[in-house]
Order: sequence, then C-alpha cells, then structure tokens
Amino acid sequence: MTPPVPELADHAADCADRLLAADEVLLASHIDADGLTSAAVASTALERAGIEFEAVFKKQLDAHEIATIAAADYDTVLFTDFGSGQLDDIARHEREGDFTPVVADHHRPADEETEFHLNPLLFGLDGASELSGAGAAYVLGRELGRATTGDDAANTDLAGLAVVGAVGDMQASSGELHGANAGIVAEGVEAGVLGEATDLALYGRQTRPLPKLLEYSSDVYIPGISNSQSGAVGFLSALDVDLKSGGEWRTWVDLSGDERQTVASALVQRAIQRGVPAHKIDGLVATTYTLLDEPEGTELRDASEFSTLLNATARYERADVGLAVCLGDRDGALDRARDLLTNHRRNLSEGLRWVQNEGVTREEHVQWFDAGTHIRETIVGIVAGMAVGSDGVDRDVPILAFASKSDEETKVSARGTHALVRSGLDLSAVMGEASAAVGGKGGGHDVAAGATIPAGQERAFVERADAIVGEQLG
Ligand code: C5P
Ligand code: C5P
Ligand code: C5P
Ligand code: ZN
Repeated sequence: MTPPVPELADHAADCADRLLAADEVLLASHIDADGLTSAAVASTALERAGIEFEAVFKKQLDAHEIATIAAADYDTVLFTDFGSGQLDDIARHEREGDFTPVVADHHRPADEETEFHLNPLLFGLDGASELSGAGAAYVLGRELGRATTGDDAANTDLAGLAVVGAVGDMQASSGELHGANAGIVAEGVEAGVLGEATDLALYGRQTRPLPKLLEYSSDVYIPGISNSQSGAVGFLSALDVDLKSGGEWRTWVDLSGDERQTVASALVQRAIQRGVPAHKIDGLVATTYTLLDEPEGTELRDASEFSTLLNATARYERADVGLAVCLGDRDGALDRARDLLTNHRRNLSEGLRWVQNEGVTREEHVQWFDAGTHIRETIVGIVAGMAVGSDGVDRDVPILAFASKSDEETKVSARGTHALVRSGLDLSAVMGEASAAVGGKGGGHDVAAGATIPAGQERAFVERADAIVGEQLG
C-alpha cells in the first residue's frame, strides 16, 4: 500500500521515530474542529503505539503559551494544527534544551526551522486546501502505525477524523476535497469507515427536519424558500414525497434515493425559475463525506455537521468535551456537545444579524467591522466568513473582523475568497505584517488568517492592511 501522501512519507517516518524514542509526550493542539480532530488522531495513534502522553489545548499559540508548555517539563512536545507559525519561539526553547518539538501543522511557517517539522507547505502542497492539521496528524499517525505493527494499512480507520478536520477548515472547494486530502478520503473508503457521494450540499442532512433543512439554507439563497418556514413547507408539500413518518418530520437521510432526487430536482428547478445565478445553483450539489461507523441521524455521521459540533465545544473552552466525542464517548460527552451546539448556533446567527444591522466599512482594498464585545473573539472569523456574500458584504475584497479579547488585546480575523487568492491575495502575510506594524502577531493561510493586536490599534491596523492588500492585488 502506498502512503496516503507520498511527498511527506519519509519525513513523517522520521517524526514517528522521534516520538517512539520519547519517554512521554505532551500533545498540544488548537481549539477548533481541525485542532480537535488533529489531537484525536494523534492521541489514538500514540496510544496504539504505546507512547505515554498528555493532551492540552490552546486558543492561540504565542510566546507565553509556549513558555507554559516548556514549564510542563516534557522532553518531547507534539504540536498539531499549530506550531509552524511559531517556530521562532519553539526553536528557541529547543536550543535552550527545554524540549524537542515535533510539529504536524499546515499553517504558513515562520523563518526558523526545526528537524521534526511536518507541513505540506514544505513539500509543495497547499496548506489551505490540500492538507489540514488533522491530515498532517494522520500522515504522522499512519507512520507510527506502520513502524509499530509492520502493517501498511495501520491507522487507516482514522481517516474519517482527518476528513472532519479538513472539512472543518473549509478545505473542500468547488464541492469536494482535493490533493492530499483526496488520498486520505480514498484510504478511508478502502478501510470502510468513509462514504463519498454526490448529494444535496445543504447543512443538516443528518439532523435537521426537512423543512428546516431548506429554510435555513443560507449559502444558496432560494427566494420563497430560504428563511421562510411556510415557503419551505409549502414547497415540500407540493411534491410526491411523504414528509412525516410516525408524526415526526423526516430528515434528508430518511429519504430514499428516488425521493432525494425528486426534492433536489424540484429545488434546482425552483432556483432557476427564481433567477438564482447558475454558479450558485451548482453549489446546491456537492460531494458529501459520511462516517459509516457513526449512527445514522446524528451529527457524527456527516463530516460537515461533525465539524460544527466540534467547533461548538472547543471554541467555548470545552475542548475536553469535543475530544471525548472524537474518541468515542457517545453518552455524556455527546449530550454536552449538543447543548453547546445549540448555544454556538444561536451565537452564530446573532453575530451574523449584528453584522448585517451594523454593516461593514469599505476601504479601498478591504472591508471591515469591529464587533467589540458583541461577538466572541473565538467565533468572529466564522461569522465574518458567513457574512461574505450577504447583503452589503462584497465578495470582491477581503473582510477584516475585530473582536475584543480583553481590555488590552483585540482579535482580528480575515477572510478572502479563492478567486482573490488567485489574483495574489495572501492574508497570512497581511495579518503577519500589519500586526507586526502595530505591535501584534498574526498568521494563518492565504485565504483565511488572524492576528492579535494591542487594543486601540484597530484603525492603524486597517490602514496598514489596506495598503498591503492593495500591493498584493495591484
Ligand atoms: O487554524 P485553522 O487552520 O484550523 O483555521 C482555518 C480557518 O480558516 C477556519 O476557521 C476555516 O473556516 C477558515 N477558512 C475559510 N475559508 C477557506 C479556508 C479556510 O474561511 N477557504
Ligand atoms: O461552524 P463552522 O465553521 O463549522 O461552519 C461552517 C459552515 O457551516 C458555515 O459557514 C455555515 O455555512 C454552516 N453552518 C450552518 N449552520 C450552523 C453552523 C454552520 O449552516 N449552525
Ligand atoms: O481565528 P480565525 O478563525 O480567524 O483564524 C484564522 C486562521 O488564522 C487560523 O488558521 C488561525 O490559526 C490563524 N491565526 C494565527 N494567528 C493569530 C490568529 C489566527 O495564525 N493570532
Ligand atoms: Zn487547521
């Protein structure tokens, strides 16, 4: 069996060997869906390899957090879904003998290098669309499995979690996963843990009652159905499909193949009639990824719903709950995660409404809003991404979103589009340079990045970012 990502295989094997030589490992990961699945993949692989470890989660890895990690006194630290952007600080601790770092990440690397650094960007792969943090952890986990069992297919059952991470980082563009991610999907299918299908692309196929599935479909706005309960029910009632079973609304996955076809065709037809642009209509259908070992009708069965469930935990300081769900705790942890999901959903929709009411300010090359304390800093990036393309928020310039972290610090999230990236946009460079200019720190990906800056520097930051984006796109 060839390795899932051949370009990274040799280096991953070296990283795996280093972990196997450790007495005990501290595993540090990021607090979003990709960070949680990275940690779940890494934990499972470490445990199966018989390596003792402890897991910790950080909102953002900075000099202070790295110092805290160093003080924990582990000889080996495995960083997943972050670390590359902070290699300057990490390498300094390594030189001082604090710990040996092993990094499995996909963010834009800092200038320093270290021996055990696994990042697709170092091997000519795109870290924003071809491999996620969970994907990098999977590549490493596969080598750990191979080294300890001699089995070429060891740990391929973790492919489902790696796909949830990639989907959570929005790496599926034009409806499907590409590049190295596609290799991981293929391994998951081969292992029997993952299903791949072309299906309706609306969020909530597993868990939302049919009318809600259509009513809440804001990504593709269909006049008369989106945001209209009576419209959605009316549309469905006119079709030859039973909408309820035993008095309960059916969900998308309850429908037979023929029934799904009937609804999807009618939906496309309605969209055409109502003048929805063709490229939007194309977005109604996409490749879906199903975790076949998870129970049908749960968030865990669908990669997209699973990733949102995880964001609902870790971005609210409950990474422990999300990790437990990933590791198979289906009782207490899943219930707790569902409560957190209700809260996350409410925050997202209130946040989006706030942005729509307040509007964004347009500069020459960027647009921005400052949510202050109205939107939690850990989700302001998701809200900014969801706002793009809605009323008054253009797709032709990137969006910057501010939220207050504390009296001293402000969080910035930036989101662009793949079309802008093709024209030269690199938001990780924008966030890095503009934040450095005002005494902060930032990084990330070309299409989505973030920074922390001193409170009060928001306007200066916008000015600087506007100029840099102008240069990139000019
Ligand atoms: O830290 P991490 O790499 O996991 O975060 C990536 C972030 O970038 C996610 O919040 C994801 O939603 C966002 N993203 C985006 N659009 C893309 C790719 C990523 O908004 N095309
Ligand atoms: O929260 P997360 O970053 O995973 O959301 C990814 C996408 O899923 C959002 O951009 C949104 O379109 C969709 N979503 C949704 N309803 C939710 C949460 C997420 O439609 N409650
Ligand atoms: O927090 P947000 O979702 O906006 O983060 C977008 C991307 O920017 C993520 O990949 C995150 O890891 C990165 N980021 C960073 N440095 C920061 C804040 C965010 O590299 N200070
Ligand atoms: Zn990531």
